[in-house]
Amino acid sequence: MVVMIQKVRKAVFPAAGLGTRFLPATKAQPKEMLPLVDKPLIQYGVEEAIHSGIQNIIIVTGRGKTAIEDHFDVSFELEHLLESRNKKELLAIVRSVSDMINVAYVRQKEALGLGHAVLRAKELVGNEAFSVVLSDDVIDAEIPCLRQLLDVYEFYGASVVALMEVPTEAISAYGVVDAEPVAHNGAKDRLFRIRNLVEKPKASEAPSNLAIIGRYILTPEIFHSIEAIDPGSGGEIQLTDALKHLLRSRPIYGYRFDGCRYDAGDKLGFLKATVEFALRRHDLGNAFREYLRSLPL
Ligand code: UTP
Repeated sequence: MVVMIQKVRKAVFPAAGLGTRFLPATKAQPKEMLPLVDKPLIQYGVEEAIHSGIQNIIIVTGRGKTAIEDHFDVSFELEHLLESRNKKELLAIVRSVSDMINVAYVRQKEALGLGHAVLRAKELVGNEAFSVVLSDDVIDAEIPCLRQLLDVYEFYGASVVALMEVPTEAISAYGVVDAEPVAHNGAKDRLFRIRNLVEKPKASEAPSNLAIIGRYILTPEIFHSIEAIDPGSGGEIQLTDALKHLLRSRPIYGYRFDGCRYDAGDKLGFLKATVEFALRRHDLGNAFREYLRSLPL
C-alpha cells in the first residue's frame, strides 16, 4: 500500500513571547521586529519558509502586534513618497515585503508558553502537517533549514525537529533529546529517532548534547497533545512536553541540520549575527571590515 504524505503548506510563527532577555528594546515591540542589519528577524524566517516552498504564513502575535502587521502590509503613504522622489530601488524593496506572503494573524492574549502559542493556530492550520519557525533562531544555511526538515518529513511522514549540538555548560537553556541515530541519505550522524525529550534539564541530567532549535515540522496530532499536557518548566505550556506526549503514539525524528544558527533573542547572539551578516553584505561588507580592523581590540 502506498501511503500519501500530505505536503506541508503552512508555517506558524510564534511571536508573542515577552522577550525579557532583550529588554528594554522589547518593551513595546516584539523581539521578532529587531533588525539584523536592515531586516527584522521575522523577515529572515519568512524568507526561509518561502525558499523552502511554503507560502502560507500564520503569525501568532502578542504585544506590539501592529508593528508586525504593518511590516507585511502595503504602506501606501511610504510607497507614494518613494515614488514621488523617484527612489525606485527602495520602492521595490518595500513592495517586495508586502507581496511576499499570504499572511494570517492570530492573537495569544497572554504569554503562557510556546506550546500554548502554537495551539492558538489550531483553527487556521486545520487537520494537516505544518511547520513552526521561531524567528529569533536565525539560521544561515546553503539549503534552508526548514527545507532540510521538510525533506525528512516527506520521506517518513512523521514530525521532525531541528537539532544542534550544544556544549554541556549551555545545555540547560534548551529542550534536549534522547535519540538514536538512523542512517539516512548516506549519513549516520544527521537523522535521529527520538526516544525522549526534556525541557531545560540540569547539565548533569541532560540525556545528550543534542538540543532542539526553533524549526519544527509537526503532524496535526500535536494539537491534541498540547491540550492534554499541564504547564511545565517556568509554569508555561511547553512544546517540548507536548512532543513528549505525542511520542507515546507517534514517531518523532530529529535532524541535525547543516547550517549556522544564531540565537538572536539573546544580546550576545544578536551582536554576533549582526556582525557576520553585515560582513557578508556586498554593499557594506568591505567598509565594515575596514572599520572593525581599525578598532583597538
Ligand atoms: P523564548 O523561549 O525565546 O521566550 O520563546 P521569550 O519570552 O520570547 O523570550 P525571553 O526568554 O523572555 O527573552 C521562543 C519563541 O516562542 C515565542 C517567542 O515569541 C519566540 O518566538 N513565544 C514564547 C510565544 O509566542 N508565546 C509564549 O508564550 C512564549
